[in-house]
Amino acid sequence: MTDNFLDKVYRVSGNDGMRDLYNAWAGKYDQDILETGYATPARVAAALSAELPDRNAPILDFGCGTGLSGAALVEAGFTRIDGTDLSGEMLAMARQKKIYNKLWETDPTAPLPVQPGDYRAITAIGVISVGGAPPTVYDDLLAILAPGDLLAFSLNDQSMAMDDYGGRLKRSISAGEVAVRSEAYGPHLQAHGENSGSTVYVLERLKDG
Ligand SMILES: C[S@@+](CC[C@H](N)C(=O)[O-])C[C@H]1O[C@@H](n2cnc3c(N)ncnc32)[C@H](O)[C@@H]1O
Repeated sequence: MTDNFLDKVYRVSGNDGMRDLYNAWAGKYDQDILETGYATPARVAAALSAELPDRNAPILDFGCGTGLSGAALVEAGFTRIDGTDLSGEMLAMARQKKIYNKLWETDPTAPLPVQPGDYRAITAIGVISVGGAPPTVYDDLLAILAPGDLLAFSLNDQSMAMDDYGGRLKRSISAGEVAVRSEAYGPHLQAHGENSGSTVYVLERLKDG
């Protein structure tokens, strides 16, 4: 149950392994993750809603999984949400929730089929991390945002401490690619020893890559 998949996820590497694990977990993911007191979706949605007053702004929920993150965005009042994820089985669960306008399977070997200006904000909630998408995804998401648009995402404790993830983010801020609209540390997987906290960022894209 919970610890089985949660423990395994931090040891999986590569897109194929990640897809297989989430495909196998999809049917039990919501129950398992909610048992841990998963707090990050509501925190990211609240942080984004403080920076994006237009509730009809188009949002892409990258790594939407079963749709828990989309549900938090709806709860915060957002109305136009698309989603994409590596795992077809996670997407099948998300589809049942009838939250997203459009859902598609991410092809990690190809550029995202999105142009700057398509979305006013992209969310990546519990996605870019050890046990999730590689740090290069951060750059991929920046590349499909127009200047002024927002990236709202979380980094768990372990990823924040790593140069590939936390270090990369700090370098991106120093280089002037993004401005930090908000940053807040708080609960992530509250009932799980590892990664019980996460840092939630809302970044504004400052210039074209
Ligand atoms: C911990 S789950 C989070 C799902 C959802 N955002 C939530 O908050 O419940 C991580 C999700 O990221 C997806 N994922 C991992 N690597 C990815 C990649 N390279 N591209 C797209 N999705 C990816 C997984 O399939 C999984 O559904």
